[in-house]
Amino acid sequence: MSRRRLGVLISGRGSNLAALIDTAAAADYPAEIAVVVSNNPDAPGLERARAAGIEGVVVNHRGHARREDFEALLHTALTAHRVELICLAGFMRLLTPSFFDLWSGRIINIHPSLLPAFKGLDTHARALDAGVRVAGCTAHYVVPEMDEGPIIAQAAVAVAPDDDAESLAARVLAAEHRLYPHAVRLIASGRARLVDGRIERDGDGAPPPVLFNPPLEG
Ligand code: GAR
Repeated sequence: MSRRRLGVLISGRGSNLAALIDTAAAADYPAEIAVVVSNNPDAPGLERARAAGIEGVVVNHRGHARREDFEALLHTALTAHRVELICLAGFMRLLTPSFFDLWSGRIINIHPSLLPAFKGLDTHARALDAGVRVAGCTAHYVVPEMDEGPIIAQAAVAVAPDDDAESLAARVLAAEHRLYPHAVRLIASGRARLVDGRIERDGDGAPPPVLFNPPLEG
C-alpha cells in the first residue's frame, strides 16, 4: 500500500499532530507524516515530531516583508518532502490565495467548533455565551475564506451545565484527536473525495444514535 505523504503545519502545542503521529504509526493507516512545519520556532509540537523521528522544519513568519516570501519558503519545505496533502493542525497563520492556487484541493484543517458556527478564535467562550447545548469540531478542506470550505467530518459533544470555556475546550479537543485522524484516513484512502467543491463519500456505515442534550426522559 502506498501511503499519502502528509505535511503537518503547526504553530504551538501540537496535540492534534500527536494524535496524527500516533494513528499513523499503524501499518495499515493510509497516510504518513513526511514533515512537520512550524511558523513558531518555540512550538512544543516540534519536539513531539522529533521524538517520533519525523523531521521538524521551522519556517518563521517573522522577518519577511511580504507574506508571499514566507509562503515561498513554506512551499519549498513541503515540496522538498514530496508532500501530497497539507494538514493544518493549530496553524495560526492565514494563507494567501496564491498559496491556495499552488495547493488547491490539497489543504485540510481541524477547527474547534461545529462549522459554520463559531468561526475564528475563542470558539468555546462564544459557544457558551450563545447557550448552545451541543458543541464540537470540524475537519474541512481549506479555502481562502477563513474557516470555510467543504466539510469532511464533524464530531459533536454535549455541553455540560457547569461547563466553562476550559472544560468545554478539553472535551472538544479529545474529540478533535479522534476526528482528525479519521478525516485524514477517509481522504487518504479515497473513501471521501473533493468533487466540485463538495465532499463525496462512500457508504457511511451505521451512524451513532442521535445526541440529545438535555437527554430525553423516560
Ligand atoms: C486546536 O483546538 C485546533 O482545533 C485549533 O487550535 C488548536 C490547536 O491545538 N485550531 C483553530 O482554532 C484553527 N482555526 P494543538 O496545537 O494542540 O493541536
